Amino acid sequence: MEGEVVVAENLVKRYETFLRKGITKREKKIVEALRGVSFTIRKGEVFGLLGPNGAGKTTTVKILSTLLLPDSGKAKVLGYDVVKEATEVRKRIGVSLSVEKGFFWKLTGRENLTYFGMLYGLSSSDLKQRVQRMLKVVGLEELGSSDKLYEEYSLGMKARLSVARAMLTDPDLLILDEPTLGLDPPSARLLRELLARISHNEGKTVLITTHNMFEAEIVCDRLAIINKGKIIALDRVEGLKRSVLCNITLEISAILPARASLRKITDDLRLVLGRDVEIQPREKNVRIKVVLRPDERGIVTQEILESLYSLGVHVRRVEVKEPTLEDVFIELTEGGAE
Ligand SMILES: Nc1ncnc2c1ncn2[C@@H]1O[C@H](COP(=O)(O)OP(=O)(O)OP(=O)(O)O)[C@@H](O)[C@H]1O
Ligand SMILES: [Mg+2]
Repeated sequence: MEGEVVVAENLVKRYETFLRKGITKREKKIVEALRGVSFTIRKGEVFGLLGPNGAGKTTTVKILSTLLLPDSGKAKVLGYDVVKEATEVRKRIGVSLSVEKGFFWKLTGRENLTYFGMLYGLSSSDLKQRVQRMLKVVGLEELGSSDKLYEEYSLGMKARLSVARAMLTDPDLLILDEPTLGLDPPSARLLRELLARISHNEGKTVLITTHNMFEAEIVCDRLAIINKGKIIALDRVEGLKRSVLCNITLEISAILPARASLRKITDDLRLVLGRDVEIQPREKNVRIKVVLRPDERGIVTQEILESLYSLGVHVRRVEVKEPTLEDVFIELTEGGAE
């Protein structure tokens, strides 16, 4: 369909390995890496595949990159079948499966890109310009690192060069497996910003895998959460937070009126909520902590505040603690992933 860059339908992949039984004996073992994975990626979005180790992220991106054949199911990338029209798919995608793989340590960043550009068949007149532009887009030029030897690169620089290499042929879809793995927080943040820029300014569709919820939350437009070879949720980040029943914590800082009865306040709030609330008094100041179910959010918050007001409590600050993606993830994977 128009606007859909990736359509994966019911992908199944099993690996055959061996289980050692003693020194000489081994037993055949089947690992079900993907157990029916379906999702679509729309044009221009940064789509994240988020899941714990062994969830099936790399297997999925390898199938979409035509590096691995699925056992069953279908996938189309930019309208081409990843099995039957693999060559067409390869012409149109840029892939980085590992930040450090395949670069020459004794060449500079620019020389490495030039080498890969030649390998990808870019004409020599285009190549120099293209390499220069990519060094600029990923920020290596700005860092003054384009002409440094690869062996002198920090991991952050290597990650950028890897993105630059994936973008050399001006692909419509970028597939990056764990692009921020091992980066320190500032480098990861820079790379995240780079990916957002690439998608918005360069009009690219980006598929990244990650097990970092914070990264996924910041960089992705939409997210699929994968666990044990199955997609267990797929939505925009906001939608994911809303759709799972994650509790919201309300933290209220307030000042009690003179001769206030803490007991009365506690009883009144219990009446509103139908359960106990946690109140930490500190002289005239109190911190009230209330855990709300998602359905209670609006109306109950209002009722609590009104009740405090009628008791003469002066509310100074109300903090609403939203669930993080990590909460969503735990909620989804604990027990319910089978
Ligand atoms: N070549 C292989 N042979 C056998 N089993 C494999 C092979 N590659 C992956 N697996 C298994 O398939 C499952 C999915 O692996 P995959 O690498 O796709 O997960 P992942 O989500 O990328 O994990 P990670 O976060 O560790 O990179 C895991 O159980 C893994 O052990
Ligand atoms: Mg992986």
